[in-house]
Amino acid sequence: MNEQSAPILPGDDPASIERAAEVLRGGGLVGMPTETVYGLATNAVDPAAVAKVFEAKQRPSFDPLIVHFNSLERVFGYAELEVGSKAYLLAEAFWPGPLTLVLPRKPESAMAELNIPDIVTSGLDTVGIRVPMHPVALALLNKVDFPLAAPSANRFGSISPTRAEHVAVELGDKVDLILDGGPCERGLESTVVRVLQDRFEVLRLGALSVSMIEQALGESVEVMPPTSSPGGCPAEQAKPSPGMSARHYAPGTPMELFDTPMQFASIDSDSRIGVIGIGILPKHACVAAERNLSPTENLAEAAAGLFQALRELDAMGLDLIVAMKVPDEGIGKAINDRLRRGCVR
Ligand code: TXA
Ligand code: MG
Repeated sequence: MNEQSAPILPGDDPASIERAAEVLRGGGLVGMPTETVYGLATNAVDPAAVAKVFEAKQRPSFDPLIVHFNSLERVFGYAELEVGSKAYLLAEAFWPGPLTLVLPRKPESAMAELNIPDIVTSGLDTVGIRVPMHPVALALLNKVDFPLAAPSANRFGSISPTRAEHVAVELGDKVDLILDGGPCERGLESTVVRVLQDRFEVLRLGALSVSMIEQALGESVEVMPPTSSPGGCPAEQAKPSPGMSARHYAPGTPMELFDTPMQFASIDSDSRIGVIGIGILPKHACVAAERNLSPTENLAEAAAGLFQALRELDAMGLDLIVAMKVPDEGIGKAINDRLRRGCVR
């Protein structure tokens, strides 16, 4: 771990990838770009290295990490995924990409390097797995012979990073190096889907829309609501969706989610407000700053810019951020989910 901020290296340079791989082999932490958000990556089969991730993020131990692989084939050694099953069909359809599958763990093997340790899964008998799409993440995964545990590279409860600089701001003194892969194309975390015997549950809305998943499966899936307790949930509530605490992805500035511009009538007239939304944003005397995520109401574009815009507004010392709800369809559901959670104190 560094006293000072970690170096940011260009992710498209093979020498940077080799340096990052060396850090990982030594049990260190790397800021890794993915197509969703930046991850705080470490060797998933080294419990001591994984412990550093929990400490750096100040993440409660009951919130399990996602394990990243470079290909679908590599997953078989670590989790139960039957060729031809519906879960396999999802993996084939959406990997590499922004889908995390929560699968049963394999029974313990005598070879430690084949076991995902309990610290990664918070002792659950399942493991969250994904194959990312970003070329820098794949290049790094190809350079090491172990999978990478990587939560989003932010302090627990704060906004996920979508640029290398955000990782430096959040965890620069905790990470050994940061690979710069540019702004994340998707800008929202992966969709987390729990695979059960006879059905699927969405534990976290994300960059892959529920309708795409349902289309691929040919059946509907249930979307689990976030737990209501702010700041996380006690260990006994850890199952089945530990990372689903309502307060998450939140700026420091108070935030409110509005359905309609009429709600501006409720605002104190001398407060300084930041507005975030798409299309035509409401005009009001209190509005000191605005961030239009997509004037043309393109939801993918809005998702990609959401966290950067929230960070910008959060840095302005405003009294309140007002988020205008986006259409609750496709990726819009995940955008509204993050905006809603940003309001929870
Ligand atoms: O897009 C992403 O998913 C990013 C990039 C870096 O891959 N990662 C990410 O990780 O968002 P994190 O740790 O911030 O969120 C992981 C989510 C949490 O809600 C966690 O509770 C859930 O996945 N999760 C992981 N393993 C699980 C398991 N075995 N059972 C249930 N939920 C699990
Ligand atoms: Mg996170």
